[in-house]
Amino acid sequence: MTLRVGVLTGGGDAPGLNAAICGLGRRLLASGAELIGFEDGWRGAIEDRTRSLRDANFQHLLVYGGTLLGSSGDNPYKRAAESVPKVLATLQRHRLDALVAIGGEGTLGAADRLHREHQVPVVGVPKTIDNDLDATDFTFGFFSAVEVATRAMDDLRSTADSHGRIMVVECMGRHAGWITAYAGVAAGAEAILVPERPVHLEELCDKLQRLRATGARSAIVAVAEGARVFEGGNCLSSTEKDEFGEWKTGGTAQIIAQRLQALLSWDSRHLVLGHLQRAGKPIAFDRIFALRLGARAARLVLEKRFGYMAAMRAGEIVDVPLHAAVAARKVLGDQFLDRYETFFLPIGGP
Ligand code: F6P
Repeated sequence: MTLRVGVLTGGGDAPGLNAAICGLGRRLLASGAELIGFEDGWRGAIEDRTRSLRDANFQHLLVYGGTLLGSSGDNPYKRAAESVPKVLATLQRHRLDALVAIGGEGTLGAADRLHREHQVPVVGVPKTIDNDLDATDFTFGFFSAVEVATRAMDDLRSTADSHGRIMVVECMGRHAGWITAYAGVAAGAEAILVPERPVHLEELCDKLQRLRATGARSAIVAVAEGARVFEGGNCLSSTEKDEFGEWKTGGTAQIIAQRLQALLSWDSRHLVLGHLQRAGKPIAFDRIFALRLGARAARLVLEKRFGYMAAMRAGEIVDVPLHAAVAARKVLGDQFLDRYETFFLPIGGP
């Protein structure tokens, strides 16, 4: 009997999603399986919105950013009592032998629970530009986002210098500062502020003042949207939340730029890179990386190894239990912060 496999992409999109679909689809179709895509992540599984995927869908697909299937932040456990039975019914209606969930913490967390609580035959593929998923060294989309942020900081140098300004550049990352740290180091930012290292505004001012005293006209400060910067007992980070209680993107850089201008009398501007970090074509590395993860997920399906996720460990593509990926968030460790200590500030708090 023909193997029938479902696939969905959930959560914030990341460059490389299409390449992952491509790696999965090509391998499965070549083995005679059928592939059914759910639209808009778990929402498509809840509402039973599908489309059949054929070889023609995969032509040039890996080149493009975004996701052919659409995505959403919804998942069945947000309204478990009504949505979980709907997902189970959809999977049964389509007589699916396996479901491949491509996503981050929320998407894979739901897949893991469906597997453990309802024996749904799931396989995971990790994605997030934030790179904060455990059990994999990197997630695809991360290095594409780092490239966008690095180029932006590089490009801002000339205008910052012309006008003698501080440019405070906000990168995505509410809970982990991976993009800010990698891009900040690569662009030689004068200071990097991340959620993992709470700091005092005073320390930032001192660092910039010292730099100015040596003759610097401008400075780049790289800030993660979830960075915690304290002035007195107040945290200056943006506190606006969305309907699910998650911090909303944007705001922290603006507050810091305003405070720097006021305290240092040094003209300061801010820039929120926002969704540009998720936009555009994936860099070549992410295309190939995502393609390999997709192909590995197909292998897991064909071998009927459910409850696993394809991952990268020490440069190799391996399988890890899905649960391990969602059990903890991967944040910047002391090793990273110490290695690049000149970019960061001493630890501070309220
Ligand atoms: O994918 C995660 C992320 O990129 C976060 O870094 C960011 O805060 C968030 O998505 C924004 O997502 P959206 O505006 O699509 O809800």
